[in-house]
Amino acid sequence: MKARVTAHSAFTVADIDKRIYGSFLEHLGRAVYTGIYEPGHPTADASGMRGDVLELVRELDTPVCRYPGGNFVSAYNWEDGIGPKDQRPKRLDLAWRTTESNQVGIHEFADWAEKAGTEMMLAVNLGSRGLDEARAFVEYVNHKGGTYWSDLRAKNGRKDPWNCRLWCLGNEMDGPWQVGHKSAAEYGHLANETAKALRGLDPTLELVVCGSSHSGMPTYPQWEATVLEETYDQVDHISLHMYFENYEKNTREFLALPEKLDTYIGTVAGVIDYVKAKKRSKRKVTISFDEWNVWYHERKADAERMRDWDWPEAPVLLEDIYNFEDVLQVGCILNTFIRRADVVKIACIAQLVNVIAPIMTEPGGAAWRQTIYWPFLFASKHGRGTAMQLAVEVPGYTADHAAHVPWLDIAGVRDDDAGTLTFFAVNRNGDEPLEVDLALDGFAARTVEHTLIRHDDLEARNTKDNPDNVAPVKGDGAAIGGKGLQLVLPPHSYSMIRVG
Ligand code: AHR
Repeated sequence: MKARVTAHSAFTVADIDKRIYGSFLEHLGRAVYTGIYEPGHPTADASGMRGDVLELVRELDTPVCRYPGGNFVSAYNWEDGIGPKDQRPKRLDLAWRTTESNQVGIHEFADWAEKAGTEMMLAVNLGSRGLDEARAFVEYVNHKGGTYWSDLRAKNGRKDPWNCRLWCLGNEMDGPWQVGHKSAAEYGHLANETAKALRGLDPTLELVVCGSSHSGMPTYPQWEATVLEETYDQVDHISLHMYFENYEKNTREFLALPEKLDTYIGTVAGVIDYVKAKKRSKRKVTISFDEWNVWYHERKADAERMRDWDWPEAPVLLEDIYNFEDVLQVGCILNTFIRRADVVKIACIAQLVNVIAPIMTEPGGAAWRQTIYWPFLFASKHGRGTAMQLAVEVPGYTADHAAHVPWLDIAGVRDDDAGTLTFFAVNRNGDEPLEVDLALDGFAARTVEHTLIRHDDLEARNTKDNPDNVAPVKGDGAAIGGKGLQLVLPPHSYSMIRVG
């Protein structure tokens, strides 16, 4: 099958906000305990943080990490996680029916984030709590000193404020499953008042208001309109979430889901513009897509197990083991964010360690890369710069989720400082290679490198004993020729093509 792609030096989408390669770490299952934190682990540092995990997180170079939830945050008391560890209370976590030991709280997470080279994106609890606890938390984290909360922080070992810039006003407040779930009008009012109070502390904070938990929610997209009408003047981003499922084991339908993602983003961008116009506002609210990933492998089994268990501490939960098919999906999702760089300014893979995550650990043992680690790593490392507006001509197929799904999913990024062009390409077709004539108009191509991920088995996984089963190799499918590049992308494959 043949495709034609044209990249022109005059055609760009927008500068990419590197925070689209953000991540998420929730107090859930083994994400924190035996994930990032395991005192006594052979690689643990003095504060109990696993060195092997830190190394993998640093390699991923995720610029921002959302914490501490997720559904967890909606019944969380942040004060439980400060002060001497032996005096911290154990609490029931209502979201996941587990027991929270509070051995990790804001101090431990902030120290870890510093070591990992990632900025904190903190969420306040607007479910079981409200404005007052939120303002106390922000004061504790960000105020320089001389007040009750900032002096308590100093007493607890941290004199200088952390100065966290990015704050989420609750989590998935449209979801009936959320502790303290609210109607759009109720939540919009609370979020607006909370935002005003936080801006009273610091007008330069970046605030994220909750949008829909997914585009199938009955309140979508009216939720976005109502919430933004209440909050537009006070917030910077509206948060969206989407998880990708393949219960039917139908690869064509599964790989069509990013088209649905694209429509979701486009619709919410339209709602933002509608409210902006209605308010005659000059402010530009953008999208924080702060939870996304494939999530279905263990989802139903987990829901069953949770019903019966007796409030365990840090149990195995949401530990999806990803396959090669998921590499293709994650590649297409990241490409969608790059192509929508004009409106998506933050996106967080959910999550980072053990819980629907690119990094897995064994308690007391190894840490390894799941299959989806690779497309995330490549986008995070090489997907920085300016998103290119590519003209793509390629046949496609019809799916339930979209009338036209192109066989080739491609995004292009130019990094003018490094003088490189990078293309991320997924061949969705499992039967035929794609021969791509990629014209480079206004660019010179001196060198080209092809990195390829493919496997004969869509179900192939990486495990502790076989951690490199699905891994990138040097490809031979890219050459300089024609008006730019000639590519051959094998059936069902992920490619990164870098031009110098
Ligand atoms: O990431 C897992 C869960 O998915 C989060 O806690 C919640 O926000 C979403 O429903």
